[in-house]
Amino acid sequence: MIPTFITSRLCVRPVCATDIPAWHRHFNCYEIIGELASSVPWPFPADGTEQFVRNKILPNQGHDRWTWAICLKELPNELIGVIDLWREGSPENRGFWLAREFWGRGYMSEATYPVTDFAFQDLGFEKLIFNNALGNDKSRRVKERVGATHIGTVPKLFVNPDYTQAEIWELTRQNWERYKQHTTALYEYSVSKPPYPD
Ligand SMILES: CC(C)(COP(=O)(O)OP(=O)(O)OC[C@H]1O[C@@H](n2cnc3c(N)ncnc32)[C@H](O)[C@@H]1OP(=O)(O)O)[C@@H](O)C(=O)NCCC(=O)NCCS
Repeated sequence: MIPTFITSRLCVRPVCATDIPAWHRHFNCYEIIGELASSVPWPFPADGTEQFVRNKILPNQGHDRWTWAICLKELPNELIGVIDLWREGSPENRGFWLAREFWGRGYMSEATYPVTDFAFQDLGFEKLIFNNALGNDKSRRVKERVGATHIGTVPKLFVNPDYTQAEIWELTRQNWERYKQHTTALYEYSVSKPPYPD
């Protein structure tokens, strides 16, 4: 079972089929999709979210992929972003995006905290690999904040053709534990069973 995390301001719960309309509405935005790998189509097809969630996310939930909807705590049924982990790195093990109107409030950093704990404590990862387009400074800062180490830059194509390289990051279990010792109460969270349909 994939847990639901209640953080200071968020409910981070497993994605379900009823999230598809909100996912599509928020995700279908060049400021988000432009930052992603060129395998994501742009313009984004009308059934793109439906196909992705039903074919790639839901069948793999809890097997080799763990995908959470990020919601405000007071609106736990309304997806405003997504964070997911996958076992087989490509080379990265995590992806995320947040609806444009919710940027700049610390929500993504807050959502990454319990998910990262889950990866190390429950899934047994020894390290997590992240990436972002060289130039995607907002994504870069989410990694820097928790003590991830920049380990290289490689050629990669993104939807935004101005990006031609990806920064690769590593977060070891040891560095994560070290970061947690110095973090603030903002990142405290509780775990609950999901009261949502699968
Ligand atoms: C990557 C992405 C999720 C980052 O969003 P974000 O809002 O910048 O990140 P956070 O939610 O963690 O917010 C951090 C910002 O909020 C600010 N902030 C405001 N109030 C805050 C609070 N109470 N607590 C923490 N930070 C707060 C921080 O100072 C920080 O701003 P800064 O980066 O200018 O210093 C978002 O830009 C996005 O969805 N991009 C498109 C998709 C994408 O790039 N995905 C990743 C591909 S690798």
